Amino acid sequence: MEMVAIKRLFRKKSIEQLLSETEGKSSLKKTLGALDLTMIGIGAIIGTGIFVLTGVAAANYAGPGLVLSFIISGIACAFAALVYAEFSSSIPVAGSAYTYSYVSLGEFMAWIIGWDLMLEYLLAASTVAIGWSGYFQMLLNGFGIYLPTWASNSIGSVPGAILNLPAVVIALLITALLSLGVKEATRFNNVIVFIKLAVVLLFILLASWYVKPANWNPFLPFGFKGVMGGAAIVFFAYIGFDAVSTAAEEVIEPNRDMPIGIIASLVICTVLYIIVSLILTGVVPYKLLDVAAPVAFALHYIHQDWAAGIISIGAIGGITTVLLVMLYGQTRVFFAMSRDGLLPKVFSNVHPKYKTPFLSTWMTGIIVSIIAGVTPINTVAELVNIGTLSAFVFVSIGVIVLRTTQPDLHRSFRVPWVPLVPILAALFCLVLMIQLPLITWVRFIVWLVIGLIIYFSYGISHSVLGKPH
Ligand code: ALA
Repeated sequence: MEMVAIKRLFRKKSIEQLLSETEGKSSLKKTLGALDLTMIGIGAIIGTGIFVLTGVAAANYAGPGLVLSFIISGIACAFAALVYAEFSSSIPVAGSAYTYSYVSLGEFMAWIIGWDLMLEYLLAASTVAIGWSGYFQMLLNGFGIYLPTWASNSIGSVPGAILNLPAVVIALLITALLSLGVKEATRFNNVIVFIKLAVVLLFILLASWYVKPANWNPFLPFGFKGVMGGAAIVFFAYIGFDAVSTAAEEVIEPNRDMPIGIIASLVICTVLYIIVSLILTGVVPYKLLDVAAPVAFALHYIHQDWAAGIISIGAIGGITTVLLVMLYGQTRVFFAMSRDGLLPKVFSNVHPKYKTPFLSTWMTGIIVSIIAGVTPINTVAELVNIGTLSAFVFVSIGVIVLRTTQPDLHRSFRVPWVPLVPILAALFCLVLMIQLPLITWVRFIVWLVIGLIIYFSYGISHSVLGKPH
């Protein structure tokens, strides 16, 4: 009897089964191409990380060595991106890392990863909504408009504050947009991505004239340890390339386009981050960078106030698309988990007219807006990183397992040098996880325990797998 129970934990989905599920009545509309995917990637990647967290990372951890932090985190993500590209080109089904592990590592690990991905998408969406609110209020203040204190921030963060109202409102607005249709939402995304890239380029072109090499000296004021600490934080800036894979089921030619979308968006952002971090620390002495809007601050610092204003508006738009993709990713992971019976059916009902998981989108959006309304930004950001890094580790192991168990599966993109590259991906991510504070680990473990309780009291008995059809 016990053997049967243990076997259940390791039951796996077959790939044929997965693919046939995507054709039934609860399937999503296929509308996306390679360019859309790259835009979804950039839309998800460039946001709070580069516009906000770079300042904290430079001032308190890495100093001018921030560029090394970005390179190290970028290498970890590059390895992980190859792994994601292989999976999503061979198993183009909604659900990303969750689905891959269902095929390669079995149901129990899939649940754990799905649960980790909730930390990534749900909490990243909340984090980003809070960051958006900060920029938005800064812009309003520039026009002399101030929100009443009760509506400006989460309770306890400043005296008199009760609710971060702009964060709640933006999360609900984006939810409304997503619930109406993916194509509409991606069109909006494309416009904003252009604006976002334009303001990053504006910063590079303008600020590079003001770089003073003396600011890079000393280059590593906190040593290599500081560089690694910085890398674990700026990892947040790269999160999002994996979100491309959650869209797999809505792609017209996933085998060809998924790898392009994932790798192209990561490469573009990595190059931009390296240049921006070099310039930022070259223009402003790193000690001064511990501010809420370091990129705009750097332009004020060199008396280019007009450009600082433009960059702030671009950052607000840019952060909005991150929110869009994170919310989108979460609904697609819920969709996949619910279709498998591990979550209630309501998460995979597709709206007859809009062809989106309408109710699930609204439930997700409301949860995100509540968290964003009442939580301070720093408590959630590190949890996002640890959840995402752990998912990357499992997916990297999954690619090795699937190569052994399903050697003949058609893979239009293959990770080079397996198992070396996936092992490096897992190791790099583990090293970054170790840099995160103990309290983050404690919260992460509590989260996992809650997940286990839900799985053993609901998921294991409701799982569609193994039930007669
Ligand atoms: N990479 C995304 C950001 O920096 C999550 O906002």
